[in-house]
Amino acid sequence: MKPVTFSYDNALLGKTELEKTAKKLESELKALNRAARGKYEDDRASINLPVDAEFSRKVRGVARRVSALKPEYLVVAGIGGSNLGTIAVQEAVLGKLHNQLGPKVKVLYADTVDADSMTAIKKIIEPALRKGRAVVLNGVSKSGGTAETIANFEVLVSLLKKHRRDYRKCVVVTTDKGSRFWSLAEKEGFATLEVPGKVGGRYSMFSPVGLFPLAVLGVSVDKLLKGAANMRKRCLQRRSNPAMESALTIYSHQKKGKNIHDLFVFANDLESVGKWYRQLMGESVGKEKDRKGKKVFAGITPTVSVGSTDLHSMAQLYLGGPFDKFTTFVRLEQFNNSIKVPALKEYDELVNDIQGVPYRQLMGAIVLGVQRAFKKGKRPFCEIVLPDKSEESIGQLLQLKMMEMMFLGALMNVNPFDQPNVEAYKRETKKILEK
Ligand code: PA5
Repeated sequence: MKPVTFSYDNALLGKTELEKTAKKLESELKALNRAARGKYEDDRASINLPVDAEFSRKVRGVARRVSALKPEYLVVAGIGGSNLGTIAVQEAVLGKLHNQLGPKVKVLYADTVDADSMTAIKKIIEPALRKGRAVVLNGVSKSGGTAETIANFEVLVSLLKKHRRDYRKCVVVTTDKGSRFWSLAEKEGFATLEVPGKVGGRYSMFSPVGLFPLAVLGVSVDKLLKGAANMRKRCLQRRSNPAMESALTIYSHQKKGKNIHDLFVFANDLESVGKWYRQLMGESVGKEKDRKGKKVFAGITPTVSVGSTDLHSMAQLYLGGPFDKFTTFVRLEQFNNSIKVPALKEYDELVNDIQGVPYRQLMGAIVLGVQRAFKKGKRPFCEIVLPDKSEESIGQLLQLKMMEMMFLGALMNVNPFDQPNVEAYKRETKKILEK
């Protein structure tokens, strides 16, 4: 497997400074290794998902059953941790324009309760249902009680029911065993897939939450998990541990007032990896209280930039604005396709030096140019290089980021696994709806 690499050569941090801070991570590293020897007892248990053959076996079985219906669409009803990882991997591996490229199974995501979006989804899938084609619905909610997800699920189940007698065969529910959603699914005769209790939404990517929809879409979950398992091993060791190194650089800059972290991805199809990471960082280290219950109002604001698109809107700020950001560049060694600018002489006067040049080379020059400008402007950054956008590479990247967040939580002395303030808004919304 070609490894994903991490480098902090341009983080503008001294070796001794980092080594000193690294001592703070000794007990977290031990805790992670302890969790790796167990199953799903610890809050860190999500690290065991990539090496759990049982989940992937179950997921493949259910995916095979629904795929036998030859569905035209898969609709995923879920929000936050229950769909961001799926979108991230789907777009990275299959492309943002997957639906337009004539795939066997197209995918739609129903997350927020936007009447126009849901009407559009209904308008898209109803013709397929009228023609007798199947639509698979995957309702995903760890708690089983998220208003948006349940509302969307109800709308979609009702639509399936209207068109298909065997609609039950088309519905799969992914939730905590024992949630009310699980009981409803069993009562209705829908297939169920379990999210292990200790695995929180934003760490659930490699559980059936992400694996089932991805398997239906034809993503190799085996390769994805293989990549994740490989990175898990690297991130459990004392030396050359990319998750530890990344957490240390982000933390050291946060201590110096860089409260914004930008994940700058130089591949269009990785934008949703950035959005997935935004949730991971936002919810994991954005905390009112520290581990002892003291009010600290901690956090780092995660942002996402896409190169080269956002250079044309944000570069001015990044290179000329306040020194309040730390950047992680993510770039690919290889794109899936190669394409060249045609060598047309008459265009030479518009932009010279690009005629006949491969896109790979153009993008390479832009990335290098941006990094040089960052260096000259004393803007610190680190870099993650992916061999490509294969399942193995994306599996490595997501696992690296999840373990980085566990280390970052330890450094910032906050619990990276809970989200008490998200629960607070959910409670308030419930009260308003009750009235
Ligand atoms: O990370 C989290 O726990 C949240 O963002 C949840 O994923 C989100 O609120 C959806 O919750 P649920 O999966 O319970 O429907």
